[in-house]
Amino acid sequence: MKKALRKLTMASLMMGAMLFLFTTNSSAQEDWTVPANYKTMKNPKAGVSDAGNVGKALWDKHCKSCHGKEGFGDGTKAEELDTELSDFSTDEVQSQTDGELYYKAIIGRDEMPNFEKKIPSEADRWLLINYIRTLKK
Ligand code: HEC
Repeated sequence: MKKALRKLTMASLMMGAMLFLFTTNSSAQEDWTVPANYKTMKNPKAGVSDAGNVGKALWDKHCKSCHGKEGFGDGTKAEELDTELSDFSTDEVQSQTDGELYYKAIIGRDEMPNFEKKIPSEADRWLLINYIRTLKK
């Protein structure tokens, strides 16, 4: 009888450990699969100055609530999300091509919303990508 009880305790401990690993792991960001045509997309606004501050205005309106004012991943809505937010000031984000950032920012996936309808202008989208570049450390 005692032996059976011990076995049962062991089994539930293991189950608990597995559940713990599973739930903690589920919040980590998985690698994105960015289609090749996006990855190499040319930024038509590369090096263009944004006199009207369109990029910043779009960031503040649509992105800041989750990603934070400076892209640190500390927006007011960040805590409600299951997915970890990356820090936009780091190489992890800044080393990506404009096309990769464009795909993630405009097409999105899961908790990262799609912005094709909310930001319909192609030119504005690229000014927003340029703004993301200014968040670099
Ligand atoms: C509702 C919260 C939310 C809003 C609003 C939001 N995002 Fe995100 N964003 C996320 C989440 C969550 C992820 C991570 C998604 C994943 O990995 O599956 C993400 C990921 C990203 C990434 C990829 C970062 C990386 O590590 O490669 C980019 C780029 C991005 N967002 C840009 C934007 C831009 C630009 C806007 C505004 C137009 C925006 N996001 C608005 C939640 C949000």
